[in-house]
Amino acid sequence: MSRYRVALIGAGGVVNNHLEAIVAHSDRLELVAVADRDLIRAEAVCTQVDGARAYSDAYAMLAAERPDLVHILTPPATHLPLILAALDAGAWVWCEKPLCRSLAEFDQLAAAEERTGRYVSTVFQWRFGSAVEHLRALMAQGLLGRPLVAVCHTLWYRTADYYAVEWRSRYTTASGGPTATLGIHLMDLLLWLWGEWQEVQAIAATLDHAIEVEDIAMALVRFEHGALGSIVNSALSPRQESYLRLDYQQATVEVQTLYRYTNAHWRLTPLPLVQETLTSAWQAMPYDRMGSHEAQLASLLDAMDRNERPPVSGPDARRILEFIASLYKSAFTARPVQRGSIVPGDPFYISMNGVPYDD
Ligand SMILES: NC(=O)c1ccc[n+]([C@@H]2O[C@H](COP(=O)([O-])OP(=O)(O)OC[C@H]3O[C@@H](n4cnc5c(N)ncnc54)[C@H](O)[C@@H]3O)[C@@H](O)[C@H]2O)c1
Repeated sequence: MSRYRVALIGAGGVVNNHLEAIVAHSDRLELVAVADRDLIRAEAVCTQVDGARAYSDAYAMLAAERPDLVHILTPPATHLPLILAALDAGAWVWCEKPLCRSLAEFDQLAAAEERTGRYVSTVFQWRFGSAVEHLRALMAQGLLGRPLVAVCHTLWYRTADYYAVEWRSRYTTASGGPTATLGIHLMDLLLWLWGEWQEVQAIAATLDHAIEVEDIAMALVRFEHGALGSIVNSALSPRQESYLRLDYQQATVEVQTLYRYTNAHWRLTPLPLVQETLTSAWQAMPYDRMGSHEAQLASLLDAMDRNERPPVSGPDARRILEFIASLYKSAFTARPVQRGSIVPGDPFYISMNGVPYDD
């Protein structure tokens, strides 16, 4: 097993999650550099790790350090150029969500993966907890029956101060409101568990913030296997909650939490007829692993060791971007949108609001 040289680009709000994950895997990773436009932020992270060097220019850092792996945790508009530079410098990339701002940008980074032979994975730490792994195993064994009804509610609260950070309020810089930046975690989890969707219908509004992006969006989704789901992505909900409820033929499976979960946040309620079988199958969860950056990073490093495409990359990363683009298109056009219908030439192929980004 190799010990990889890793660098961080971006040292803002989410940097501690990455730092903790790297420290947890210090037998497999050496943090060599941190780059942030704000050098003081980069230096503050470097003081916590022996030998890490601070840079104010990410491109200079890539040229000087040639890391094996780069974590990108800057605002969404900067993701694509930084991803391309990191791939060209020979690194693998682990980039915060949303991976990029449009399907057009995704297709550019996919071409760069082909060209460089390196891979880009998106941070979706919710996929990596033990409860989700166990749920997928029960689904694969057919124990739960067909999926029928989903409720996917990201009911979070964001203040005016949060949106005062300039990039968060505009399509060009953020790519969207709570749909693109908050609810994206739970929606990604739903799509990953329940497979391909077929059609989405949405409405969105900006009700209580002086911002260009939405602060609330609601959507209905039909899956290919026929199941229906309801989605709420809110930045306006004082009692905050992330709630995913999955009704299968034989049982309801729910998770109720805010930003992280352990096994205890999940609950399975079986039909009386299968109570014993399903309760013991659910309780047979072998261990308790939080859905966290640390957990996802472990599987990314495993993929690097094997030189294989990592989880949450390629088509598996494009799925949620297409869903979000379609949700926005439906909200802006007041029409249902089918999967596969946003292609080059469609205004929503190049941006989430159907208007070219102004950068
Ligand atoms: N996975 C999660 O749970 C999670 C949580 C929070 C944020 N995020 C994502 O992480 C990313 C960053 O969010 P944040 O809240 O940390 O933002 P932030 O505004 O707090 O920090 C961004 C940092 O990037 C730096 N920066 C901007 N452009 C740069 C460039 N070109 N080169 C180098 N540095 C640059 C800024 O100076 C700033 O320090 C976003 O994509 C966000 O959606 C993910």
